[in-house]
Amino acid sequence: MLRPYSCWLLALVSTLAVATNLKGRLADAGITAVFPGDPNYVTISTPFNLRYVYQPAVVAFPNTPKDVSEILKLSYGLNWTAVARSGGHSYIANGLGGKDGVVVLDMQNLNRVTVDPTKNTAVIESGNRLGDIALALSKYGRGLPHGTCPYVGIGGHASYGGFGFTSRMWGLTLDTITAVNMVLANGTIATASNDRHSDLFWAVRGSASSFGIVTSIEVKTFPEPPSGIIFQYEWILDVDGMAKALDVVQNYLESGIPPEVGGEINLFRGPTQGTIVFHISGGWYGPADQLNATVAPLLEKMPDGPKTTITPGNYSESVVFLAGGSLDTHTAPDVHDTFYAKSLMTPEASPMSLEARTAFAHFLANDAFTTDIQWFIQMEIYGGSNSAINAVGPDATAFAHRGSLFTIQFYSAAVGSVPPYPERGFAFVDSLVNSITANSPPHWDYGAYPNYVDDRLVDWQARYYGAHYPRLQVLKDKYDPRGVFSFPTGIENRKR
Ligand SMILES: Cc1cc2nc3c(=O)[nH]c(=O)nc-3n(C[C@H](O)[C@H](O)[C@H](O)COP(=O)(O)OP(=O)(O)OC[C@H]3O[C@@H](n4cnc5c(N)ncnc54)[C@H](O)[C@@H]3O)c2cc1C
Ligand SMILES: *[C@@H]1O[C@H](CO)[C@@H](O)[C@H](O)[C@H]1NC(C)=O
Ligand SMILES: *[C@@H]1O[C@H](CO)[C@@H](O)[C@H](O)[C@H]1NC(C)=O
Ligand SMILES: *[C@@H]1O[C@H](CO)[C@@H](O)[C@H](O)[C@H]1NC(C)=O
Ligand SMILES: *[C@@H]1O[C@H](CO)[C@@H](O)[C@H](O)[C@H]1NC(C)=O
Repeated sequence: MLRPYSCWLLALVSTLAVATNLKGRLADAGITAVFPGDPNYVTISTPFNLRYVYQPAVVAFPNTPKDVSEILKLSYGLNWTAVARSGGHSYIANGLGGKDGVVVLDMQNLNRVTVDPTKNTAVIESGNRLGDIALALSKYGRGLPHGTCPYVGIGGHASYGGFGFTSRMWGLTLDTITAVNMVLANGTIATASNDRHSDLFWAVRGSASSFGIVTSIEVKTFPEPPSGIIFQYEWILDVDGMAKALDVVQNYLESGIPPEVGGEINLFRGPTQGTIVFHISGGWYGPADQLNATVAPLLEKMPDGPKTTITPGNYSESVVFLAGGSLDTHTAPDVHDTFYAKSLMTPEASPMSLEARTAFAHFLANDAFTTDIQWFIQMEIYGGSNSAINAVGPDATAFAHRGSLFTIQFYSAAVGSVPPYPERGFAFVDSLVNSITANSPPHWDYGAYPNYVDDRLVDWQARYYGAHYPRLQVLKDKYDPRGVFSFPTGIENRKR
């Protein structure tokens, strides 16, 4: 009787000792950490999306993979949930764990980018933001596919996708990864690649945060292309005009276009009810003198006289332009927003029907015209002829969307970007999506993009992870049996 009893007591006492000692243990290890009550605690635990307020148990700033391991061993011993934060741009504050009481590992001190100019590879530590990475690579005349906003962190971006205007040519950010250096739930430092833990390597390219804390990724880089021309065409269309324009674009994308053309359609509130601003923004990365011939078949079928802006330049200049003028993330502070967004990935095999296009356009030109909710829509081009994203096999990585034409983002923000976000905004954004899905075939095989993460998405397992979800759960039980990395829309352990 005495033995188990004292064991239990011993365990309890040591747990409490560790808990009270967490501050001391982290300090001993030279790891900066911010606890509730510390003067900068509120600032440091403020997410990008001000719609969320969470109280982390601690925000620690590891300097090395070994520090990450130490912190995870401590929290594992205490049965706490842990999470990594890279750029902090999660739409639902998952960089803080998506709940209170989480051990947050802020990766900002792991900020090296090491380029190997002979192998054309780079090792990118997880505290880097996209702007810093682009600057580091451009010194070597190299590039990587990734999103446009310089402040987005590589940690989340490369875990769940990573789309930019070069993605039709180079793939998603996660497609460039050849190895992932990470720390597992129990503190084990591991590398996942095709040769080592290949099952884990599969899982991290699409859902890394459910399996460990990535300290760095090894990527292949690409030579800067011969040009980087940003083209923008804008029309004011009525409902039928927009329904037709979407059809024109869908057909153009499937007409044998080269991989060097990429971009998105942006939709905004029109000047009068019944109208929509239809804006195409794209990048051309082939020889400069071939841009006109490439876009001519599209423009020929669109209404005459779009407002046109062509921004010529080389590749580096195009990255700077798309970033809004600067890639530097150190001199100016990042901004915040207060917003709600959803996404919809449309199947290339079943393009948006006339019915869906018309209903969507009707909603935008009317309901979305009269609402006081602020919104914009982006239809990012993932597919089309010669898309590198869709050239990857459907089961080659955990990323479950290799047959999408568009990733549509429906974004709505509070006035002035500050709280409160209007409650009726949720139903409004739901209706935007429904205008398409409710007017599409019954088993329309659409998905959702996990980097535009939405904690109100009911069938998120299927929409984000598709047919890969059951296999991901098996791997979750293998690599994180206790669910140390548990957060909204993360892979769940199987019920036992
Ligand atoms: C202004 C803005 C512009 C954007 N533009 C684009 C775009 O052009 N293209 C595009 O594809 N996406 C875009 N996104 C979406 C963006 O890719 C995601 O929000 C992304 O997940 C943010 O990554 P982060 O590291 O900044 O965020 P964080 O909040 O730090 O992390 C997001 C998620 O990843 C996890 N994570 C972070 N670091 C690690 C790590 N080291 N190891 C394991 N898990 C980790 C976190 O725990 C969290 O679950 C944009 C987002 C914003 C806010
Ligand atoms: C660990 O915490 C989880 C909830 O986060 C709980 O379900 C589980 O029982 C705990 N395990 C132990 C050993 O305390
Ligand atoms: C391309 O078309 C634009 C008009 O859209 C024209 O001004 C420009 O001269 C053309 N460029 C070439 C190289 O033909
Ligand atoms: C791209 O243009 C910028 C600005 O003109 C210039 O500094 C840079 O050297 C150019 N890059 C290449 C690869 O030509
Ligand atoms: C840590 O977890 C990994 C993956 O599940 C496992 O292979 C390893 O044996 C574990 N290490 C310890 C010390 O438990």
